[in-house]
Amino acid sequence: MVKAVRGMRDILPEQARRWDLVERAITEVIRGHAYEAIRLPLLEFTELFARGVGETTDIVEKEMYTLADRDGDSLSLRPEGTASSVRMLQEHGYLYNQTQRVFYAGPMFRYEKPQKGRYRQFYQIGAEAYGLSGPDIDAELIGLGWACWQALGIESMVRLEINTLGSGDARQQYRSALVSYLSPLVDQLDEDSRRRLHTNPMRILDSKNPETQRLLENAPKLPDFVDAQSIEHFNGLKDLLRGLGIPFQENPNLVRGLDYYTHTVFEWITDDLGAQGAICAGGRYDGLVERLGGRATPGVGFAIGLDRAVLLHEVAQERAAEGAADVYVCVPDQQFLEAAMQTAQALRSGLPHQRIRLHMGGGNLKKQLKKADATGAQVAVWVDQQSADEDVLTLKHLRDAVLGQESLSFDAGVERLRQGFVAQG
Ligand code: HAM
Repeated sequence: MVKAVRGMRDILPEQARRWDLVERAITEVIRGHAYEAIRLPLLEFTELFARGVGETTDIVEKEMYTLADRDGDSLSLRPEGTASSVRMLQEHGYLYNQTQRVFYAGPMFRYEKPQKGRYRQFYQIGAEAYGLSGPDIDAELIGLGWACWQALGIESMVRLEINTLGSGDARQQYRSALVSYLSPLVDQLDEDSRRRLHTNPMRILDSKNPETQRLLENAPKLPDFVDAQSIEHFNGLKDLLRGLGIPFQENPNLVRGLDYYTHTVFEWITDDLGAQGAICAGGRYDGLVERLGGRATPGVGFAIGLDRAVLLHEVAQERAAEGAADVYVCVPDQQFLEAAMQTAQALRSGLPHQRIRLHMGGGNLKKQLKKADATGAQVAVWVDQQSADEDVLTLKHLRDAVLGQESLSFDAGVERLRQGFVAQG
């Protein structure tokens, strides 16, 4: 039997129902903002992405599905839609002296390492606006994303991070300063960062390596290089977002993996899908039309990762069906049912403002933790033979991989939970 190619998604009937629903909800919101649908080809000349997305980005360097056409032309399956949408609108005369608001949906292809939420064929719904340079359109697009999350009932599961990269010049100056700072430290950088130092140094800010992050503590900071006009634009955006009641966090390390961005960049992130947290990302790309051979035209947009939006919708619905809790007390071993009930009771007195749910219905710990996750609980707690022997309580922080799992005395455990909930407000 020939199997599916790794990372290419099969979407079976029962999943396809949810896909339809999510896709329809999002496109309705986008149409409601008066964006016009366009349909982009799957194949483009490789050069479009090399010039558009950037020769030294991971996408172009190592993730494209590139093939030679029969006449020798190098073609690539589209890894994203922004470069194609610029190409298409420019080629047909839709950009000169006009404004456009468009959207597209469909599969994109990147040769990435597949895992939950990350596939080699994945789906995006993207929206792009051209010919508008103010922060108002940035805010409209962010507001559009927010309206999509509300339509899907996932707005409490996502947070917005924003940053400004400044003008092209500011970015260039920052890039040089970063390279000068990091060059003498090159031996201490992780392998990926060393490679990026001369190709795409700003991506080093994204490194997950703790040693590299430590070196970056004293590095020049992007906000110090951003020009006054960009700051004004960014302040304008923040005011509008406040006015719209959309919560956001500034993240000066948010640089994005595609080269075309200038000024505003943003990501919608969830902690509910494990490692693949970005469900939507975008920003302003005022230089791209020119870079691809057109007249200077401002552009801004985003793309929602539909695979991730669907996964998140599923989690939200499971959670709603399950009923919400803050702390979930597991009973992995019925022998400790009484201890678990006492623990739940004591937690209720110790944490009067939190919802403490005791697991019922048996099953192994893995299954119970899955249920705990579905209630949206921050923490699962249990007593088993080992913790009973050691007279401790085992705590698993379900939303914080760094804190992970720990064993504490009962009183220390309650205090730990109390502090955690206080910190969260
Ligand atoms: P991007 O950050 O590369 O941006 O992708 C946007 C979203 O697509 C991500 O936040 C994620 O949800 C989803 N995505 C990306 N790669 C994968 C994958 N391998 N598997 C599943 N989902 C994935 C862009 O593509 C830009 N064109 C966005 C944009 C539009 N900027 C301006 N306009």
